Amino acid sequence: MLVLGIESSCDETGVAIYDTDKGLIAHTLYTQVELHAQYGGVVPELASRDHIRKLTPLILQTLEEANIERTELDGIAYTAGPGLIGALLAGSSVARSLAYALKIPAVGVHHMEGHLLAPMLEDNQPDFPFICLLVSGGHSMLIRVDGIGEYKLLGDTLDDAAGEAFDKTAKLLELGYPGGPNVSNLALKGNAERYKFPRPMVDRPGLDMSFSGLKTYTLNTWQAAIKEDDASEQTKADICRAFELAVADTLTIKCKRALEQENLNRLVVAGGVSANREIRSKLDALMKKRKGEVFYPRLEFCTDNGAMIAYAGAQRLLAGQSNDLNFAATPRWSL
Ligand code: KG4
Ligand code: ZN
Repeated sequence: MLVLGIESSCDETGVAIYDTDKGLIAHTLYTQVELHAQYGGVVPELASRDHIRKLTPLILQTLEEANIERTELDGIAYTAGPGLIGALLAGSSVARSLAYALKIPAVGVHHMEGHLLAPMLEDNQPDFPFICLLVSGGHSMLIRVDGIGEYKLLGDTLDDAAGEAFDKTAKLLELGYPGGPNVSNLALKGNAERYKFPRPMVDRPGLDMSFSGLKTYTLNTWQAAIKEDDASEQTKADICRAFELAVADTLTIKCKRALEQENLNRLVVAGGVSANREIRSKLDALMKKRKGEVFYPRLEFCTDNGAMIAYAGAQRLLAGQSNDLNFAATPRWSL
C-alpha cells in the first residue's frame, strides 16, 4: 500500500510517501522558521498562507522523488489536529480533494500519534508495549503504548509543555525563535555549577509535570543579573545550562517512575524536544543503568514532518480505518 502523508499543523509543511512493504520512500519538508522568526513566534495567518503556497509543489516533488504516479497512491493521510486551524485546513483540504479525485481513502491523523510512532520509521523499531515520553512545543506527556491506537495517558503537563518552556526561556533571554535549539546551543558554553534550578514536581508522587515555574525562575535569575550589572552572554549561557539540566533531570526522573510503575523497560522518546542533546544523554544513561532499551526518531523526524503522518496513516488504513471526506480538521483533540 502506498500512502501519501501531509503535515501542516504548525510552521512546517511536510510531505512523504510510505510504502507498507518497502518503508519510507520519499519525504520533503519546507520550514517556515525564517518567516516567523522576525515576529518571535508563529503567526497563524502567515503560516496558513505559506502552507497553501507550498503544499502542491511539495506533493509534486515528493511524487517525483519517489518515482511514482499519483494514480498509484492507495491512500492519503493528513494531520487533522491538534494544531492551528487555518494551517490544518490547508493540508486537510488538499489531502481530501486529492483523495476524492483519485477515489482513494483519506485518513485524518492525530499529530501526536504521528510523533509517537516516528521511531517506527527507523530500522531498529521498538516492540510493544513501551513507555513513550512525548515532548513537543504543545505537549509533554507520558504514555503507555500497547499497540497502534492503544494509548494510556499516564502523565501530562499541568501548565507549559517542555518545548514551550524552552521557547519562552529563549524569548526572555532574547535568543530568538525557535527557542529550543538556541537555548541548547548556548547551554554548551554554560557553567553547570553557577545556578541550580529546581526540578519541578519530582518530590510529589505521580507522573504529571509542570514547567512554567522554570520559566519564572529564568526570569528572576536574569533580572537579578541585570540588577547586579552582570547581564553578560556568559550569564545567559549559565542560565541556559541550568534550565536545560533542570528540564532533562525532571524528564528523566518522571520516565524512571513511569517505567517502574508499569513494570516496563522499553522507552520511546519523541516530539521536537526529543532532539535535545542533554535530555538524550540523561535518558541514555538511565536506560543503560536499568539495562533497558531507549528509542528516538532520527533528528529530522523529531520535529514536525510528513513521514510520521504517512506512517501513522498507513497503519490506520491497514487496519481498515479511514475518514469520511467531511472530516476536515479539529484544532483540539485528545490522543
Ligand atoms: O514537535 P515539534 O516540531 O512541534 C510541535 O508539535 O510542537 O516541536 C517543536 C518544539 C519547540 O518548542 C522547539 O523549541 C522544541 O521542540 N525543540 C527543542 C529542540 N529542538 C526543537 N527543544 C529543546 N532542544 C532542542 N534541540
Ligand atoms: Zn509536532
